[in-house]
Amino acid sequence: MPNASHQLRCIGTGERIAPEAVSSDFRDPVTGDLYEVEYPWSETREDAAAARRPNAQALRHLWAERRDSTMPIDQSGVWRYRDLLPILQDDNNAVTLREGNTPLYDLPRTAKLLGLDFLLAKHQGMNPTGSFKDTGMTAALSVAAERGFKWVACASTGNTSAAMAAYAARAGLRAIVFIPEGKIAWGKLSQSMDYGAMSIQLKTDFDGCVKMLGEIVRKNPIYLLNSVNPYRLEGQKTPAIEICEQLDWQVPDHVIVPGGNLANGSALGKGFGELKHLGFIDRVPKISVIQASGANPLFQWFNNEEKLLHAVTAETRATAIRIGNPASWRKAAHIIETTNGWCEDVNESEIALAKAQIGAEGIGCEPASAVTLAGLKKLMSQGRVLPGERVVLLLTGHTLKDPEYTIDFHQGVLAADMPEAAGYRRPPVVLEPNESAVMKALATEMAGAL
Ligand code: F0G
Repeated sequence: MPNASHQLRCIGTGERIAPEAVSSDFRDPVTGDLYEVEYPWSETREDAAAARRPNAQALRHLWAERRDSTMPIDQSGVWRYRDLLPILQDDNNAVTLREGNTPLYDLPRTAKLLGLDFLLAKHQGMNPTGSFKDTGMTAALSVAAERGFKWVACASTGNTSAAMAAYAARAGLRAIVFIPEGKIAWGKLSQSMDYGAMSIQLKTDFDGCVKMLGEIVRKNPIYLLNSVNPYRLEGQKTPAIEICEQLDWQVPDHVIVPGGNLANGSALGKGFGELKHLGFIDRVPKISVIQASGANPLFQWFNNEEKLLHAVTAETRATAIRIGNPASWRKAAHIIETTNGWCEDVNESEIALAKAQIGAEGIGCEPASAVTLAGLKKLMSQGRVLPGERVVLLLTGHTLKDPEYTIDFHQGVLAADMPEAAGYRRPPVVLEPNESAVMKALATEMAGAL
């Protein structure tokens, strides 16, 4: 039965197709452009005025009420907002691990250090598999399950594969992940094995994995769950709704996100844009995307203003965003431009120091998430974020995803060129098991803290 609730719109040609007609690689067969999900009430529709629009006032109440519900889809911080993502024929087909509902923490010490009045971190690493990918995966994998697919697959730097493996296991689907050999954090690899996926370590980088998988899904009945799949972005737009709800429908001035394959910034932009279009909020925040300088094709594109993006050979210890040829760069560029945000890059030492500063707030995150704070410092130094403005950093992954990185920082391997880093290093102290040795070490510690 065709799904009348939404269509897919090609972002290049503007052409609309029925969801069932999309090619297996989620690209326009002629132009190679990506699609986005469009509803009868979407801003992009010329006839949207005539469509029955979701009522903002009524939905705010309904969403608040669902918090008390015992139904799994109401307890999910994605499906609680299902009225703005009607992508399933039957909402009871949703495969959920109760994703979303993540905390919006304040970062008081970091705010003080930077001279900001208002700095928050939306911690998407607090999702069931420890990364923001769960919000998109519950959406797209539910579509796969509802459409009767038996196999799902993705290429990944580790978090997408962990999320896909978990949701596939919940739905009873078989999962294949393609990951670059030796280039993903152990925590992430262990997750896809734990959740029962077939983990294929290809002797190439992420971009090589994407290419290989593209060939395979074109020839086999395997559902592609990379972020070119537009349903992923419908789930990933929900943190935008959650942020507004958590701020009592006040809009922050800036939202800063890490950039890898470049889907997430655009997903959040779509979320904020839809909220404004429907009258939930009266403006959208500036959305800025920060890349690691060793994997910065979008940053380079912004500075060269060329027509096409040039792929780079990516290298960074923030392995989640070690991506040289990002699929969703056009979507990200569009959101940055239309919201008046920025694209910046930050170096390895800046990332390591920022990660330690977020850790010192008692929160922690994985290295890729810390580019947001490193980028914020840069934007402030350029006068692009002002002290009185309200900033939200999007932390995308949990600190336990990549403990090796954290240990390397505290042992002095990372950010060795940054004097400020010394104050954050807490390497383990090795002592003889006797009281005087412990007391002596404590005395030194106390003297240092004074
Ligand atoms: N932060 C983390 C922790 C990530 O895992 C990723 C992407 C990003 C940021 C960047 O998000 O790709 O939407 O720009 N990880 C993907 C993966 C590529 O396979 O897990 P993006």
